[in-house]
Amino acid sequence: MRILITGGSGFVGQRLCQRLAADHQLVVVSRDPEAARRRLPEGTQVIANVLEALDAAPEALVNLAGESIATKRWSDEQKRRLIDSRVDVTQDLVMLCAKLAANGQAPRVLVSASAMGYYGAQPKQGEPGQRPVTEESSAHDEFAHRLCERWESVARGAAEHGTRVALLRIGLVLDQGGGSLQKMLPPFKLGLGGRFGDGRQFMPWVHREDLVRAIEFLLERDDLKGPFNGSAPHPVTNAAFSRSLARQLGRPSLFPVPAAVLKLAFGEMSRLLLTGADMRPARLEAAGFTFTYPTLDKALAAILD
Ligand SMILES: NC(=O)c1ccc[n+]([C@@H]2O[C@H](COP(=O)([O-])OP(=O)(O)OC[C@H]3O[C@@H](n4cnc5c(N)ncnc54)[C@H](OP(=O)(O)O)[C@@H]3O)[C@@H](O)[C@H]2O)c1
Repeated sequence: MRILITGGSGFVGQRLCQRLAADHQLVVVSRDPEAARRRLPEGTQVIANVLEALDAAPEALVNLAGESIATKRWSDEQKRRLIDSRVDVTQDLVMLCAKLAANGQAPRVLVSASAMGYYGAQPKQGEPGQRPVTEESSAHDEFAHRLCERWESVARGAAEHGTRVALLRIGLVLDQGGGSLQKMLPPFKLGLGGRFGDGRQFMPWVHREDLVRAIEFLLERDDLKGPFNGSAPHPVTNAAFSRSLARQLGRPSLFPVPAAVLKLAFGEMSRLLLTGADMRPARLEAAGFTFTYPTLDKALAAILD
């Protein structure tokens, strides 16, 4: 299959490309094709703009591009960048679908990233109303929700051109060499790690390997469309995550970071650390997807081995 991937140079995209390269023809969209080419498997075509893929007429699209959500404080300008960097490229993908459909070549499928932030802050462990969050659950209205909602609704537009659309609400992606774990490891290795705030907020997570398998699953299964929670079946609270990480490293987890300190340091972005959802991959599991790393201990043991 010819597969077009936006954000293919990123933490998830690179692993996805390694997995797909043997069996598929890959076209990656990057703002810096030269740099991207160095990170991607040999034979990957790299282009600078989605619409350059018209001639290649991809049969499948994977949409992973977007400004990193956790690197800068969420000023109004940064919020705009977070939205535009996702919405603009998604709009381009929908336009590509329209143009290809006009030639009778509509891509079969678009798998488009979204995030656990779709659900916004949900009740913490032990709070009234706390229950597993599935694709049916209602969302709490806040910036992360509005960002994901907008991103998803633009992606859904591809369905009007005959393309099947699957939206993957991704949890915290764990693996070596990038993502959040890379930032958490140094203090934990020094024995200075600990929970954030009271630690009762949920942290849905997924091993990067399972995430790329889920993307491949959604590419292949013609009967699957709509939203899918992309996180392991056993989410943990932030306190349990901290304990598990410290245990795997053979270090104590004694130093909680007070919520007030995080709010002061990160402003509204601290919500990424202090709120969460008990998100479960109900629809992936119902469709028969099985996780190689269903529990955090198993995932961390494999990653830190
Ligand atoms: N990693 C996680 O824990 C996690 C959790 C939930 C959701 N997600 C979502 O899953 C997707 C993939 O995640 P990831 O961790 O692989 O992300 P990543 O490593 O930050 O990579 C995303 C790619 O997007 C492109 N990009 C970055 N800033 C951009 C901008 N301002 N405008 C246009 N493109 C830009 C970059 O490609 P070029 O430089 O080659 O253009 C980059 O390689 C993202 O959309 C992310 O929001 C990730």
